[in-house]
Amino acid sequence: MKDFPTSNTNNLIHKIISIDDLPQLKKFRCGNGSMDLFLETEAYPSHIERESSTTLVYIDTKLVGYYTLRHINLSSLFAGSTPEEEIGVLDIARLAVDSDFQDNGIGKEIVNNIFHMAIQLNERFIVLDAVKEKWTWYKDNFEFDNLFEDDIVANSDIVTMIADLYDQDLVERYYDA
Ligand SMILES: CC(C)(COP(=O)(O)OP(=O)(O)OC[C@H]1O[C@@H](n2cnc3c(N)ncnc32)[C@H](O)[C@@H]1OP(=O)(O)O)[C@@H](O)C(=O)NCCC(=O)NCCS
Repeated sequence: MKDFPTSNTNNLIHKIISIDDLPQLKKFRCGNGSMDLFLETEAYPSHIERESSTTLVYIDTKLVGYYTLRHINLSSLFAGSTPEEEIGVLDIARLAVDSDFQDNGIGKEIVNNIFHMAIQLNERFIVLDAVKEKWTWYKDNFEFDNLFEDDIVANSDIVTMIADLYDQDLVERYYDA
């Protein structure tokens, strides 16, 4: 398994969304209108309804990014799934960095932070739906793989990605000792 560094190179402050943040949300622009709109209109109501959890990322008082997490059933990703796939997974429902701050390592730092949280919570899988132009970013920088080959070859806008946190080495070291 990859090493997920804990160093905070960008002095990022991770803050759970609150009502005081709402004026800031309107100004957020990441280059993807639907992600901006979600943050402005849905993130907070969805958070207080406990449907999904949004964390805002600040540098000082500037909102530079956000991510939204939730739990879903793995089976919801498969058509015609079987009960064995009825396992809860951590879903990165949204992830965005302000356009003026992109390509500074903030996205990577956020995803590494999510991996840390997932490891702490002892999650087995992290999943997400990547926009087509970004799936390689997840594949090249983290332990994500595309779940369905068709997403790549077919004319799909979305690529479903999955990271498996099961560490075979740890299991073998324990049972072989
Ligand atoms: C995707 C996103 C979150 C990445 O955040 P970021 O802070 O810009 O990313 P980072 O700075 O951590 O990573 C940039 C690195 O990834 C590389 N990269 C960028 N796009 C890539 C791609 N499609 N495939 C592979 N690598 C890519 C860059 O070249 C850069 O490499 P470097 O570190 O070697 O210089 C950001 O671009 C964004 O918010 N985009 C708009 C919203 C969006 O598309 N969200 C993702 C939905 S799935």
